[in-house]
Amino acid sequence: MPSTLSNPLRLGLRQERVISPQCLVIFGASGDLTHRKLIPALFELYLQRRIPSEFGIVGCARRPWTDNEFREKMKVKLSNQISGKEREWEQFSNYLFYEPVDLQQSDHVVRLSRRLNEIDKTQATHGNRTFYLSVSPNFYASGCKALKAAGLLDDPKKSRLVIEKPFGSDYSSAKKLNKIVQSCAEESQIYRIFLNQSGIEIIYQVFKLLHLKQWALKIEQVITKALVL
Ligand SMILES: NC(=O)c1ccc[n+]([C@@H]2O[C@H](COP(=O)([O-])OP(=O)(O)OC[C@H]3O[C@@H](n4cnc5c(N)ncnc54)[C@H](OP(=O)(O)O)[C@@H]3O)[C@@H](O)[C@H]2O)c1
Repeated sequence: MPSTLSNPLRLGLRQERVISPQCLVIFGASGDLTHRKLIPALFELYLQRRIPSEFGIVGCARRPWTDNEFREKMKVKLSNQISGKEREWEQFSNYLFYEPVDLQQSDHVVRLSRRLNEIDKTQATHGNRTFYLSVSPNFYASGCKALKAAGLLDDPKKSRLVIEKPFGSDYSSAKKLNKIVQSCAEESQIYRIFLNQSGIEIIYQVFKLLHLKQWALKIEQVITKALVL
């Protein structure tokens, strides 16, 4: 894993060294990308004190794991990285939760919504949520529709959707899928990221976009206000 000091994506990140309070919901939490890149990157950020205390990482996939099973499985997969930092891992693992969800079952996503409300209270994450679809693009459309139907994308200031590009098998299928995604969330909520990089770069990409989009929104609000006045 590259050091953050040599990571070019750190440039311009001075004001966002600590991520804002929120819940990062990872669909595909039992998959390869989660334990190989995402959780190692988040643990690394924790070690660098860049994860706020008001934070939660909620893993979702179909298999019926509990929070403890998810924590244990991640611990085994990350054993090399954790070695010598067991105490820090135990503290970090308090951020990890798991909810069994099949993205093609809308009632599962409704159940997730209730769980997120509970986690919001215990983790003080103020309803800020980032939904990361680390699943096959075949599930993007049904996943986005289920999230929207459950009301989880209703607040454009508090909920975001991360999808990996490229998606679709050609230009026309990508356009079709993009249209479905855009029918479920406002453009300001949608983060399309590239995957061919290290985990820490992926996570930085997500949080850098979050920052940039917040700034864009603020600038837009200031301009609108100025025009009205
Ligand atoms: N791994 C990499 O380094 C890498 C590199 C480039 C791109 N990608 C892309 O990243 C995405 C994830 O890759 P991956 O390697 O982690 O895939 P993976 O190992 O095959 O994992 C897929 C995940 O999706 C979950 N899943 C499958 N069907 C689901 C459903 N209906 N509802 C909810 N969850 C479901 C699976 O868990 P359950 O079976 O428990 O549901 C599993 O956690 C894919 O789009 C892949 O193309 C990955």
